[in-house]
Amino acid sequence: MAPRSNPSGRVSRSVTIRWPDGRTTTVKAGSPWLQAAQQAGLTIPTGCLGGSCGACEIEVNGRVVRACIAAVPPSRSGELTVELASDPYW
Ligand code: FES
Repeated sequence: MAPRSNPSGRVSRSVTIRWPDGRTTTVKAGSPWLQAAQQAGLTIPTGCLGGSCGACEIEVNGRVVRACIAAVPPSRSGELTVELASDPYW
């Protein structure tokens, strides 16, 4: 599926995040995911905080991201949808 463009055709620097509980928040692209979740009143589980354990995995538009080492990316549509990743082996 081709990415949607916002009306200006540029990648948006502000990103509206739709969280699993239905809340939405708007943050600047480049904000740490853990900080963005905290601003939304949500806590992403963590472990190592170094990118190796996977405890903080979330799905961003269907792609798995380790939230402790990743930032909110710019988005052509200006929106991202987050789901908490479920790992049956945890
Ligand atoms: S907390 Fe371990 S990979 Fe993020």
